Amino acid sequence: MKIDGKALRPIWLDSDLNVVKIIDQRRLPHEFVIADLETVDDVIAAIKEMYVRGAPLIGVTAAYGVYLAALNSPVKTVGNNYLIEECKRLKAARPTAVNLAWAVNKVLSEVLTLNNASKKISMARKEAEKIAEAEAENCRKIGEHGLSLIHEISRKKQGDTVNLLTHCNAGWLACIEYGTATAPIYAAFNNGIDIHVWVDETRPLNQGARLTAWELGKHGVKHTVITDNAGGHLMQHGMVDMVIVGTDRTTFTGDVANKIGTYLKALAARDNNIPFYVALPSSTFDWKIKDGIKEIPIEERDPDEIRYVQGLDRGTIRSVLISPKESPAANFAFDVTPARLVTGFITERGVCKASEKDILGLFPEKKVSI
Ligand code: MRU
Repeated sequence: MKIDGKALRPIWLDSDLNVVKIIDQRRLPHEFVIADLETVDDVIAAIKEMYVRGAPLIGVTAAYGVYLAALNSPVKTVGNNYLIEECKRLKAARPTAVNLAWAVNKVLSEVLTLNNASKKISMARKEAEKIAEAEAENCRKIGEHGLSLIHEISRKKQGDTVNLLTHCNAGWLACIEYGTATAPIYAAFNNGIDIHVWVDETRPLNQGARLTAWELGKHGVKHTVITDNAGGHLMQHGMVDMVIVGTDRTTFTGDVANKIGTYLKALAARDNNIPFYVALPSSTFDWKIKDGIKEIPIEERDPDEIRYVQGLDRGTIRSVLISPKESPAANFAFDVTPARLVTGFITERGVCKASEKDILGLFPEKKVSI
């Protein structure tokens, strides 16, 4: 995407091929900082501490982690056992986004077929780059497919503003290019459809208020930041035409794990008869899990992310305490929206209903792995 006229992605490989560059998303929107990842430990820390976040980007970063593991192997032969152990460490960085294990396994499986060290290194790099390009292209197609849904609402409203609501950041920052939930939004904007986006702030780390608002603002998309609890009220008053969110893991039966609070938006949308769409690339489907509520691992993060809030204070980013220091806090980072509350999925292959039959109808080759 272009930021201030300059093409930018949230991750890229430096020209010397030794360093992976990322935008440090903890500092946005107040500071724009590029960080260097040189080792597997750097990659794990960047994922855990959320310098990078969002399911597709976590996957791509981890894929580059496999490349860095091969590049920096202490053994000149780049032994397979060593690579397998490093990949286990990478996959344990965060539990919920299935893209992490998917991307690591994809790179590893190619590398393990080779027995020459330099070929392994170059294969790992090419595979990581391939995943990054494929995710960018998937998001572009998600935008094309989602555009027709927004177009239809605009037509029914006779060109009046289409009000969309999104939660967390499922934008290009989370996905290389375009985003998942934001891809149809950017496509609609670029096609001249009058749209406005309600941006849930997304406590505790405020990915909506910090990142989605920044992205949309840079692209010129009309938007308004709201508290996480405002969505129900807006829906009751006809101020939301469609909800679009991303996901970190979606079962092949249609249950959706996404940022905590997504489920409540889906409930409110159902109660108010508002379409609730989930945009995702196929890398975010978990083809092994059937029951999202019972089987998707939900990350629990440091309670201090709840007790403190971060913002800009006289030019410096600071954290301030908002609860009694000694009050226990519980930080569940994701929740699961059952398939029955999802109107449909917007994928790179098209739009489908949230059912096993329709999902496998779009991805028939996955039937064999189930
Ligand atoms: O904790 P985060 O910021 O990694 O959570 C991100 C989300 O929940 C996104 O909505 C999801 O990954 C979809 S990203 C395209």
